[in-house]
Amino acid sequence: MDLNDNILITGGAGYIGSHTNKELSQKGLNTIIIDNLVYGHPEFVKWGKFIEGDLNDPDFIRSVFASFSIKAVIHFAAFAYVGESVHEPEKYYSNNVINTLNLLQVMREFGVSQIVFSSTCATYGLPKATPITEDHPQQPINPYGKSKLMVEQVLEDYSNAYGLKHASLRYFNAAGADPDGETGEWHEPETHLIPLVFDVALGKRKQIEIFGTDYDTPDGTCIRDYIHVTDLADAHILALDYLERENINLICNLGNGNGYSVKEVINIAEQVTKKKIQTIDTGPRMGDPPILVGSAEKAKRLLSWEPRYASLEAIIETAWKWHSRK
Ligand code: UFG
Repeated sequence: MDLNDNILITGGAGYIGSHTNKELSQKGLNTIIIDNLVYGHPEFVKWGKFIEGDLNDPDFIRSVFASFSIKAVIHFAAFAYVGESVHEPEKYYSNNVINTLNLLQVMREFGVSQIVFSSTCATYGLPKATPITEDHPQQPINPYGKSKLMVEQVLEDYSNAYGLKHASLRYFNAAGADPDGETGEWHEPETHLIPLVFDVALGKRKQIEIFGTDYDTPDGTCIRDYIHVTDLADAHILALDYLERENINLICNLGNGNGYSVKEVINIAEQVTKKKIQTIDTGPRMGDPPILVGSAEKAKRLLSWEPRYASLEAIIETAWKWHSRK
């Protein structure tokens, strides 16, 4: 990327978007942030130029592209509550699919042909083999995962027809926070394991519910692959460079390749916070696969991506620093 380039970040006031904005800005790139602030936080936009608006409005998107010469887009803006997507699929297909079509339409109008897209391991559905590689069948089991898969397919078709170049990055479980404490994980409502465990450590919740203790895993609880949000941010920048350098599409997993059970996460959080975490077994949550662990060998090979935070303890330490700040 050239230092004069403007990079548009949709959803840049959110969790992964704000960390990516920081990394890009620290590298000296100009960032333009758009966010509708439904779930994003204006306080998280500490770098670049912020424009509030919604991708459901093509004229708004046009106005942004008309005001700035955009080199490439990193597209985070989406709804991402798996459970909610089951009950309100229209909300997910509208925002995650239709609004992405609006963005792609305007990109075409302005001749912008590079996009890095936030995809997810939820596009795989129930894993048939572990660790999951990119050629694993994609059979998502909820509307959220389906909406992300639909966009991956749209990007492929637009690439064939219009020459769009895309990097679809399939995240495993994003965790942790900016080590400088400038941005972090803040969801309302919060449904994610690590921040909820911290709420217990801080006395804001009585206990953490463990969703299922009878899974076919060593301790009976679900296993996930946690990846630090700053490592995700780095991979987005490497993916932008890859599109520019290679001018071909890229699809890759972003994870650490290590699985941790819910009980292991809680144990490590107890060590980091030095607090006892009360737990209660409440039975499985609908749609939770027992094990989701990805192979990130492809990202490492093609992007020379090397996650800085390989241990869950290091990831949780950064998250705790953010979560327990005064
Ligand atoms: N869990 C609990 N109790 C809680 C919350 C979570 O036991 O109160 C468990 C879940 O069952 C799961 C693990 O902790 O096994 C992690 O759950 P999170 O809600 O933190 O994350 P998910 O794995 O459900 O979701 C993440 C992303 C989604 C993405 C999904 C892919 O947040 O965007 O991975 O499966 F779609």
